[in-house]
Amino acid sequence: MTWKIPLFKIYWDESDVEYVKREIESGMNWAVGPNVIKFEKMIRERVGTDYAVVFNSGTSALHSLLIAYGINKGDEVIVPSFTFISTANSPLFVGAKPVFADIEMETLGLDPDSVRENITDKTKAILPIHYGGCPCKIEELKDLADDYDLVLIEDAAESLGAKIKDKNVGTFGDSAVLSFCQNKIITTGEGGAVVTDSREIYEKLLLIRSHGRLESSDYFSSLEPFDYVTLGYNFRMSNITATLGISQLEKLDKIIEMRRSNSRYLTENLNDQIDKIIPLKSPNDYYHVYQLYNVLADDRDELMKYLADKGIMTKIYFDPVHQTYFYKKKLRYNVDLPVTTEIANKILTLPMYPGLQKDEIDFIIREIKNFYRR
Ligand SMILES: Cc1ncc(COP(=O)(O)O)c(C=O)c1O
Repeated sequence: MTWKIPLFKIYWDESDVEYVKREIESGMNWAVGPNVIKFEKMIRERVGTDYAVVFNSGTSALHSLLIAYGINKGDEVIVPSFTFISTANSPLFVGAKPVFADIEMETLGLDPDSVRENITDKTKAILPIHYGGCPCKIEELKDLADDYDLVLIEDAAESLGAKIKDKNVGTFGDSAVLSFCQNKIITTGEGGAVVTDSREIYEKLLLIRSHGRLESSDYFSSLEPFDYVTLGYNFRMSNITATLGISQLEKLDKIIEMRRSNSRYLTENLNDQIDKIIPLKSPNDYYHVYQLYNVLADDRDELMKYLADKGIMTKIYFDPVHQTYFYKKKLRYNVDLPVTTEIANKILTLPMYPGLQKDEIDFIIREIKNFYRR
C-alpha cells in the first residue's frame, strides 16, 4: 500500500550515496574492511564505551551477547513483553528461559518492582528496552542488578542518542545492543552493534561474530593460517554496510534534532486540543530521541482504521510478546501483566521521521480531531 504519510521515511543524503559508491567502485573489501573498524570507533566514541562491535542485525548482536555472558539452559532472563519479539527470543536462542516482568506507566520500560518480584535463584540477567527512543528506569534497574549480582543488558535498539542527564543509554548496563534496521534512528538497512566496557566480552564477541576464528589480520587477504577456537557464526556486518553507517552516524545529531522538533510540534498541538489522545511524556532529565511517536488513544482501533482511510499510516508497537501464538500456544506461557495489557490496548504509534513536514503534521492533527468530533 502506498501511504500519503507513511509511518517512517529513511533520512539520507548525497554523502550516503557518495561514500557507498566509492567503496563499490574500489572493487575490494565488500565483506570485511577498514570501515567496519572505523564505524566501531565512531560508535564507541559517540556512546561513550570502551568497545563497540558491529553485527549484521540487532538480533544477532543480542544473540551473541547472551552467548558471551555464558547464559545457558536452566538460566532465566527477565525481559519485558512490551517489546519487539527478538528481545524475548534471545534467551531462547541459548536455551535459557525468558521471564516476563511488567512495565511502568511513565516510560513504558520494565518496572523495577515487577523485575524484583520475578528474580529467582535461576535469574542471570535483566534485559530491559529503552522504548521508542525514551530511556527506561535504567538507574533503578542498575541498582537492582547490582544488589542481586545480575548481568544488566540494555536493549537500546530504538534509542541511540537518548540519555538521562548527560549519560547516554548504552552506558548504564554491563553491555548494550543497538539496531540499525531501516526504521531506527540511523540505519544501514539492516545492522546492529554491541557497546560495552568489558574487554573480555568484546573479545568473545569478535569470535562469536566470525566463526570462532582468531583473526589478527584480514582473513581474505592474508597468507597466515587462522585457527578456530570456539563455535561461531557469520554475524558480520559488511564493509559496505559499515560505510553507510559512518555517513549516517555523522548526521546523528541533526537527525535527532529534526525528530525532536517534529515531536514537539505534534505534542503541542495534540495536547492543546484533544483530550481523548495522550502523547507520552518522558520524565524530567530524560532526553527522548523519538524513534517512535506514541500516544495512548481512546477508540484506538477505530482511529487507526480512520487514519488509514485518509492515507495516514499508524501502527501498534507493541502487541505483547506473551500473547503471540508462539509464546501462548507453543511455549504455553500464561502470565498476568496488567500494565502491559492496559497499555497495549491503547498504544498507537503515529508517523514520525526527520523529513516529516509541518503541513503533513497539521494534516495528521486535523484528521485526528475530525475522528474524535464525528
Ligand atoms: C527493542 C528491539 N530490540 C531488538 C530489535 C532487533 O533489531 P534488528 O531488527 O536489527 O534485528 C529491535 C528492532 O526491531 C527492537 O525494536
